[in-house]
Order: sequence, then structure tokens, then C-alpha cells
Amino acid sequence: MARGFSQKRAAKLVKKTIRDFDLRGKRVLIRVDFNVPLDKNLNLTDDTRIRATLPTIKYALEHGAQVILMSHLGRPEGRPVSTMSLSPAAKRLSELLHQEVIQCSDCIGPRIKEELSRLKDGVSVALLENLRFNPNEEKNDPAFSKALAEHGQVYINDAFGSSHRAHASIEGITKFLPSGAGFLLEKEIQYLGEALKNPKKPFMAILGGSKVSDKIGVVENLISKVDKILIGGAMAYTFLKVQGVGIGSSKFEKDKLDLAKTILEKAKENGVEILLPVDHGVVQKVDAAAPLKVEGPSISPEWLGVDIGPKTVQLFSGALASAKTVVWNGPMGIFEMKPFAKGSYEIALKLSELKGAVTVIGGGDTAACVMGFGLQDKMTHISTGGGASLEYLEGVELPGIAALEDK
Ligand code: ADP
Ligand code: 3PG
Ligand code: MG
Repeated sequence: MARGFSQKRAAKLVKKTIRDFDLRGKRVLIRVDFNVPLDKNLNLTDDTRIRATLPTIKYALEHGAQVILMSHLGRPEGRPVSTMSLSPAAKRLSELLHQEVIQCSDCIGPRIKEELSRLKDGVSVALLENLRFNPNEEKNDPAFSKALAEHGQVYINDAFGSSHRAHASIEGITKFLPSGAGFLLEKEIQYLGEALKNPKKPFMAILGGSKVSDKIGVVENLISKVDKILIGGAMAYTFLKVQGVGIGSSKFEKDKLDLAKTILEKAKENGVEILLPVDHGVVQKVDAAAPLKVEGPSISPEWLGVDIGPKTVQLFSGALASAKTVVWNGPMGIFEMKPFAKGSYEIALKLSELKGAVTVIGGGDTAACVMGFGLQDKMTHISTGGGASLEYLEGVELPGIAALEDK
């Protein structure tokens, strides 16, 4: 169990899980999210999502099942695209499991049934080809769900990262098979859910990233739950502008100024303190080689903020020192460029050092940022979901979770 959580405190999952089924001699169809990043030579550059499903796959094998995995990769728009084959994922999974992974040539049809006919109980793992090569996956087409369901006797969703999509392999399929959550899905719901529903106080949210508009739903959901919101990244400039602080040429959203004002007012009404940057790393051009200086609280004309500055790091770190639950979504600067990653690094480091606090990281870029710093093992939980974790933090019920059988 990750630090900061006791078994007793972990939120209960009301859905059935893989533990609720007798798997011996059965074919278990597991939806995973192997939508993994590939480089131009189709080499996998991050296997986190594959590793994260190993407990479920191993459990199914240990309990005597035949395992059939299915996933999408990329957005091939309903037709086969060779660069979006799940081959690299199958290869990596095979290395991680130290065993053969049978790679299917498609996901439905008589040929696939034939390919799956050689699976053995407790031993075999097969991976269907990219579900989105078929246009009916994203259409949530019942006939396609049914054809997928025919491959198995139990359906397990372990694809948290895809559970915000009401697609055939995620939502529709639950109408044709007994269904439950895998260990990864269960863990995501426990940690994200616990942070939102039953947080140890003080509860603080760190929000950043590129746009206020991307994070409105998250702010609206969190504002009635948190004690403080720390805002960095480009979204801070819309808030600073509304307060009359000079932001130079920093990125901001003109049409979201009123909304930023409303959020500031709402926070006041709720007794929530909003902390904004008091200094910034600024450049004249978004280029890693551009001369970088620290300015604040105002930014001079023609300079733009690409990171939070050292005084802001101090301000945010001081606030975080007493936090018992922290949810972080959105980097503090353009972390993809090393000179502008300092603020995000300092905040990640501070979180990693908090004693007895629950630290939950959501959002694709924020997770990549923390992993890039090598601090992933020092956090309570890093979500494998990008859009899915964002929607979860917005308080939206994810269709892939809602569709599973209740306990
Ligand atoms: P997540 O994927 O974790 O939800 P977002 O996609 O909202 O995060 O935000 C990540 C992006 O925000 C990154 O690409 C980063 O470069 C960008 N960003 C952060 N700060 C700034 C800034 N000051 N100016 C422009 N872009 C920024
Ligand atoms: C993700 O990477 O966020 C999931 O795999 C979902 O992918 P999608 O945004 O293409 O539906
Ligand atoms: Mg992002």
C-alpha cells in the first residue's frame, strides 16, 4: 500500500472486482489501456501503463484463467494503420511477463476465434489487435461489443485511462458478460476517490497547465472541498490579469477573464484561499536557449512567463508544508524545456518530502513531468489516466466504471 493510506481509510469500491469471480478454466477478457507513446521507429518510450496492468494479468493466470487482452492505441479513425499496431505493446508485455504473448491479427471474426483456440488455462496470454481499427469500437456498436464478448466468459475493465470513453470494449460489452474492475482500476478509484470524498485536512489542490478552460470543471468541483488552491502554469496569468497584475506577453485567455473573476469570488465565499505566483521565470521567446530571468510580481511588456519563480516556490512550499492531502493537476511551467522545469521540479520535490500526506497526481502531462524527475515512487498515487483523471477530478461519473456490475 502506498504511503499515506491505511487499508481502513481506502474508499470502498461498490463495483465487483476480479476477486469476485471464479476464474478457473475461464476465458477472461481484460480491457487494458495500452495507448502507449511510441517514437518514430515505433519503439515504446514509456511502459508505465503496461506495467500497471501486470497485477491483474498475473492474478488471472494464477487463478487458472486464459487471458485475452484488448486495447486501443492512438486514433486510427476506424481503419487499420500499421504504425498504430499493438505489436510494440505485445513485445514489451511479453518481456515483462517472461512468456509468450499471442498477438492476434484483428479483434473479431472467425480467424481470431481460431487464433484464440490454442489458449491454455493458467498459462496463455493473448492480445487482440487495436480495437479502433474497427469503426464500431468508438460507435459503441452493440454487435461489435457482442462479437468481442464472445471471446470470453468474464469481462474485466483495467483500463482506467479509457474509462471516460463510452466505447464498445468499455461500456457496451458489459451488457453481454459478467463484469468487474481489475486491480489498476480499483486502485485509481480508491486513491482519486478517497482524495475527493474523504480527504485528510488540510486538503490542497495545485493546478497549472496551459489553459484555464481545460481546468474549469476541476476548479468547480474542488472549490467546495479544498482548503487552498495553488495556481501556477499558464492558467495563472488569466487570474493575475484579472487582478490587474502586469503579465507582459504571457499566455492568457481573454474570454476567460470573467470566469477567473467568478472563481476568485467563489473561493472567497467558500473560505478557500487561492495562491497565485508572486514571481516568474520569464523569457522573450519560448525557446530553451532564450535568456531567462526572474521577474515579479509584474512581468514587463514583451516578456512572458514560462515558469513560477523562486519566491512563488517558497510561497507554495510554505502552504504545502501543513497539507495532509494534495491533488496536483497541471505543471507549473513549460516543463518540457529543461530551463523552465525548475518550478515544477521544486513543487514535485516538496510533495515527495511531505510526511504523512496523501499526494495524488492526475493528468497526462503532470504524470509525465513527475516521472521525468524520477519522483514517481515518492507520491501516494500517480494516475495512469490523462483525460480520465481530469474527468474524475471534475466529479464526472466515468461510463466505463458506471457500467460495471455492482457488488
Ligand atoms: P495535464 O496533461 O497534466 O492535465 P495540461 O495539459 O493542462 O496538464 O498542461 C500541460 C501543458 O501546460 C504543458 O505542455 C506545459 O508546457 C504547458 N504550460 C505550463 N505552463 C505554461 C506556461 N507558463 N506557458 C505556456 N504553457 C505552459
Ligand atoms: C488516453 O491516453 O488518455 C486514453 O488512452 C484515451 O485515449 P483517447 O483520448 O484517444 O480516447
Ligand atoms: Mg495535457
